[in-house]
Amino acid sequence: MANVVVVGAQWGDEGKGKIVDWLSERADVIARFQGGHNAGHTLVIDGKVYKLNALPSGVVRGGKLSVIGNGVVLDPWHLVREIAAIRDQGVEITPETLMIAENTPLILPIHGELDRAREEAASAGTKIGTTGRGIGPAYEDKVGRRSVRVADLADATTLASRVDRALQHHNPLRRGLGIAEVDRDALIAQLNEIAQQILPYAAPVWKVLNEQRKSGKRILFEGAQGALLDIDFGTYPFVTSSNVIAGQAATGVGIGPGSIDYVLGIVKAYTTRVGEGPFPTELTDADGQRLGERGREFGTVTGRKRRCGWFDAALLRQTCATSGMNGIALTKLDVLDGFETLKVCVAYDLDGERLDYLPTAAEQQRRCVPVYEELPGWSESTEGARSWADLPANAIKYVRRVEELIECPVALLSTSPEREDTILVTDPFAD
Ligand code: GDP
Ligand code: IMO
Ligand code: MG
Repeated sequence: MANVVVVGAQWGDEGKGKIVDWLSERADVIARFQGGHNAGHTLVIDGKVYKLNALPSGVVRGGKLSVIGNGVVLDPWHLVREIAAIRDQGVEITPETLMIAENTPLILPIHGELDRAREEAASAGTKIGTTGRGIGPAYEDKVGRRSVRVADLADATTLASRVDRALQHHNPLRRGLGIAEVDRDALIAQLNEIAQQILPYAAPVWKVLNEQRKSGKRILFEGAQGALLDIDFGTYPFVTSSNVIAGQAATGVGIGPGSIDYVLGIVKAYTTRVGEGPFPTELTDADGQRLGERGREFGTVTGRKRRCGWFDAALLRQTCATSGMNGIALTKLDVLDGFETLKVCVAYDLDGERLDYLPTAAEQQRRCVPVYEELPGWSESTEGARSWADLPANAIKYVRRVEELIECPVALLSTSPEREDTILVTDPFAD
C-alpha cells in the first residue's frame, strides 16, 4: 500500500495545502512531520477559504486521522485557537481525528520573544526575516535537550523541573538582550492550564502509525516550508530551523524510511520567496509585479509581500535530487496566462563560469547570474482547467520543457486555488 510524502520544492508557498487536501481523499492518515505554525497553508473548497498553520490539511475533509508528529514544534496556545477557528468553519476536530505525538517539543512564549528580539537586534544584511513565531529558538531548545515536551504536561512536578531547566538557559540570554527575566510561576501556571486542552490529543504516534501501516492504511505526509529553506540544504543562514526535505518524514513521526513509497514535490510554475536571502531569478520589474498581483502573492502568516521571479529549473534539479522526488505537482500555471514570453533559468553564471547548481556559500549564491531560456507564452486562459485538452499548446509545451529540464515528471497540475481545479496525470497513491 503506497504512502506519499508531499514536500515544497522551492522556498515555500508552492500550494502544498491545496494538493495535500486534494490527495487526502485517497489517504487514511495525514501527518505533519516538521515545522510549526510558521507554515500557512490555504485551501479553497467551493469558494470557502480555510487557513491552516499547525493542523494538517487533511482535517477539512473529515473522516481521516490527522497527526502532528514529533518532528514538529508545537505552540499549544496557537493550536487551541486554530482548532477553535476551524471548528467555527464547521470542521469537526476530536481526539479520534487528531493525534499529537507525546514527544513533540513545545513552543513557549519565550521562544517567540527571543525570535523577535534577535531579529530586531540584527544589523542590516543579517536579518533572516523569520515569521517571528519562535520556531528557531524552539528547535534550539530541542537539540539543547531543554524542551518542554507534550508528555511533560501530564505531571506537574516534571513540568516545573523542565521549565526550570529551560530558564537556566533563557534568563541569562534575556538579560543579555535587555528583555525582562521570565516569570517562572506564571509560565508554569499557563502550561498547567493549557495542558488540559492538549493532553486528550496526545498519543504514541510512532506506534499508531506503524500499526496503521501494517493494517494497510495509506499515510500522506504533509511537508511545510520548501527545500530551499531546509536547515542543511537551503540557502543557509536564510532558512528555517528544521529539515524539510522528504527524508525527514520518517524521523518526524517514527516510521522506517522504507515506508515511503512516493515523494511528490510541489512546484510553483514560477518562483517566490518571503523573507531575506539570495534569489537568483528575482524580478523587481513589471513582470515581477504582474506575477505577484496575478498570483496574489502575500504571505498568509505575516501578510508580507512575497518576492517573485521566473521559474528556476537549475534549483529544481537540485531539490528533486535532495528529496528524491518521484514526481511533481506543478501549481499556479494559470498565473502565467497572458505573458508574451516566459523565461526559465537553466544554469548560473558565476564569475564567467557556468554552473548547473546553486553553490553553497551565501556570498556566491548572491553573485549567481541566471542563464535563461525563453519560451513562448499563451494568451488563452488556463484558469480552472481540469484536463490536458483544456490547455493551450504553448502551456503544454511549457510543462513539457519544465519536466525535461528538471528531469522529473509532472504527476499533477493545478490551475486555480479551488480543490477540484486539478489535473491528475499519475496517481501517486497507485500501487
Ligand atoms: P503552501 O504554503 O505551499 O500550502 O501554499 P500557500 O497556501 O501559502 O500559498 C499558495 C496560494 O496559492 C494559496 O493562496 C492557494 O489558494 C493558491 N493556489 C494554490 N494552487 C493554485 C493554482 O493552481 N492557481 C492559483 N491561481 N492559485 C493557487
Ligand atoms: P509554508 O509551509 C514561506 C521563511 C520565513 C523566513 C525563514 C525563517 O507556508 O510554505 P522561521 O519563522 O521559519 O524561522 O523563518 O523561513 N518561512 C516560510 N516561507 N512559506 C513557509 O511555510 C515558511 N515558513 C518559514 O519567511 O524567511
Ligand atoms: Mg504557505
